[in-house]
Amino acid sequence: MATAQADTVTEALGGLLDPASRADPYPLYARIREAGPTWVEDFSALVVAGFRDCEVLLRDPRMSSDRAHDRRAWAEDVLPQDAPSSVLEPWFVSSDPPDHTRLRRLVSKAFTARTVAQLEPRIADLVDDLLDGLPDRAAERGQMDVVADLAYPLPITVICEILGVPVADQPLFRDWSVRLTRLVDGFGVPWGGESLPDWLLADIELHGYVQELIAGRRRNPGDDLISKLIAVEEEGDRLTRDELASIVVLLLLAGHETTVNLIAAGTLALLRNPRHLAVLRHDPGLAEPTVEETLRYDPPVQLTQRVLAEDAEICGVPLSRGSQVFFLLAAAQRDPEVFPQPDTFDPTRHDIQHLAFAAGPHYCLGAPLARLEARLTLTRFSQRMTEPALAADPPPYREHINLRGPSTMPVNYTSIAPRSRPWR
Ligand code: HEM
Repeated sequence: MATAQADTVTEALGGLLDPASRADPYPLYARIREAGPTWVEDFSALVVAGFRDCEVLLRDPRMSSDRAHDRRAWAEDVLPQDAPSSVLEPWFVSSDPPDHTRLRRLVSKAFTARTVAQLEPRIADLVDDLLDGLPDRAAERGQMDVVADLAYPLPITVICEILGVPVADQPLFRDWSVRLTRLVDGFGVPWGGESLPDWLLADIELHGYVQELIAGRRRNPGDDLISKLIAVEEEGDRLTRDELASIVVLLLLAGHETTVNLIAAGTLALLRNPRHLAVLRHDPGLAEPTVEETLRYDPPVQLTQRVLAEDAEICGVPLSRGSQVFFLLAAAQRDPEVFPQPDTFDPTRHDIQHLAFAAGPHYCLGAPLARLEARLTLTRFSQRMTEPALAADPPPYREHINLRGPSTMPVNYTSIAPRSRPWR
């Protein structure tokens, strides 16, 4: 392995850890991609950043998602006696067949394109309600925060309604999910030692909450997804109690952390490219490619990981079983070998492809829902906000490296057009 290549990639990965790179990590990603697939000793991982390599390897059955057992064994030792046992239950995104297949199948029906399409009128109303709630000051310029006023409340409300979680409990999730997503944040998350890290405390609190919620639904079933999963759990051996709680936690977190960033990234890209914003305002048919191009250009999940299930040579690098592989999706999606002018945001580009929802058996279950929420939000934002303009560019970013997105996005506007129907 050429040391210069490994040094370049190690240095660029170190640069990604620096909060100063959060607003624009793409030059660092470019250096990593140009170096080619590289084993990085400091992270004990093969780093893959080319589009074709990522696309093929994410579908490779030797790439295991069961990457949590060391952490689980450690957590078992440090977990307080009274913590819910479901804390130790892996999310199915971090499991392999046959468990992964069984658990994914139980929830997949709730997120098919057809089921999700039925939610369109409700989601459209929610977006309009959020925009109606903004002050309309025709005389004096108004200001909104795209993150707090639109991108955050929409997905959390939608996933709460699907699951049957009281929307009034949203502030609790905000806190738990900010603390817990540090764990999902790719590399550099500290765990080990004897004390409880904050993400594990947040996980314990969240599981306690979810267990109570499930107990309540058991007593009073409704038409929601939790009640449906309880029925499956009670009818046989397809789902254990802990697996049920773990699914609810995964959906709650996956259902909003990422979509917030998609809506924010799409709005940001449109405000930086007023020509595309103007075109979208008059032609809502462009919302779909705008969402796809946002997913390519500035993906809400920047990287994912796998563990090698057997000794193998991957991208010419000999690796032993248990080696980690990092897939830098955000770097892959700007690969000039696949995308002409990859650093340009262009919803009119031909045949937009991306790996923002990964590929293979773990392909994002919520993709149709995320796409629908983003499409409706970007369409209405473009149609109803008059003269929207960023108050700060770049906006400040959250600390997260992987689930990367702005913490706030103040936008000035002159007025808000009334809602009108029918919207498409
Ligand atoms: C823009 C928004 C979203 C993005 C970018 C995104 C991205 C991803 C990615 C990259 C994965 C694969 C992770 C891996 O293989 O390691 C994934 C899996 C998953 N996502 Fe999403 N997601 C989004 C929204 C959602 C929503 C709204 C939901 C739920 C309602 C959801 C639920 C899931 C679940 C359950 C998995 C695990 C699938 C499996 O392991 O079989 N996601 N997502």
